[in-house]
Amino acid sequence: MKIGVLTGGGDCPGLNAVIRGVVRKGVGVYGHSFVGFRDGWRGPLENDTVPLDVAAVRGILPRGGTILGSSRTNPYAAADGPARVRETLERTGVDALIAIGGEDTLGAAARLHAEGIPVVGVPKTIDNDLSATDYTFGFDTAVNIATEAIDRLHTTAESHHRVLVVEVMGRHAGWIALHSGMAAGANVILIPEKPFDIDKVCAFVEQRFATRYAPIIVVAEGATPIAGTTVVREGELDAFGHQRLQGIGALLETEIRGRTGRETRATVLGHVQRGGTPTAFDRWLATRFGLHAVDAVHDGDFGKMVALHGTRVERVPLAEATGELKVVPEHLYAEAEVFFG
Ligand code: F6P
Repeated sequence: MKIGVLTGGGDCPGLNAVIRGVVRKGVGVYGHSFVGFRDGWRGPLENDTVPLDVAAVRGILPRGGTILGSSRTNPYAAADGPARVRETLERTGVDALIAIGGEDTLGAAARLHAEGIPVVGVPKTIDNDLSATDYTFGFDTAVNIATEAIDRLHTTAESHHRVLVVEVMGRHAGWIALHSGMAAGANVILIPEKPFDIDKVCAFVEQRFATRYAPIIVVAEGATPIAGTTVVREGELDAFGHQRLQGIGALLETEIRGRTGRETRATVLGHVQRGGTPTAFDRWLATRFGLHAVDAVHDGDFGKMVALHGTRVERVPLAEATGELKVVPEHLYAEAEVFFG
């Protein structure tokens, strides 16, 4: 078989490990050949390809980013998108696709599969918000980067008796905030799943100062105040209709300073969380996802996504995997709340 591979959506550490796993097993064990499509769904839409063989994947295991490039191109943005994808596959002699991406990339993969395009999905996002898999690769790396940053902010916050607000990624789900906040001993963790009460946040700030330590507040970029309590700026929309989030950290800085009179600073970690070398866990998970994805293609088991269940990698229907986001449940947030203030 000739198999096309693409990486779509926001990049994340471990994408290259998946590509390597796919190609090494696909060529070495099954004797298939591969072609890379550049920049997510833009590649098949515009027939933009790159050679993908064993030589091309040498040395990429520890490298962040993706050798194939990525974009947030939506193949359903134009009416003729799916037809153009099909045309490219015919023209390039590609029998099947492996799409590595998050909810948007895999959502498009599910629709294309329903229209007869043979595709297997691999879940990817630092946000860890894809249902049907216990973890996505990239998440562990992002959590470790955020944890190290918060550890560092503790010492400077204490020296200056300041409130430090740390904004981490997490558009719809607060997994990065929850895990890094717990790991680094944050005094308040704010997540999109639970609109926050600014008065309570300020009360936690004062409670923390009463112990002579300085408070650290970890906030997911998608967190919002309880409706009507403060105003959040709106950002522009991307090709999948998501708002580019901006400013919750800065908003908290202003509100906390104004309400408590305490010196407050905000740090936005941003894309630092997505860059650089993946952790061992993410390399391990990404490599296994790659191996299992090429198995699924070899078996002709299309319309599936590989998923981690405990320590097993299993196949789940793409449609099921992309139907609903995995958000932080109340009981896990309650565990973190024990340490607030
Ligand atoms: O979905 C992954 C993610 O990192 C989100 O946490 C974040 O909101 C978004 O991507 C940022 O995307 P961009 O690459 O467009 O800045």
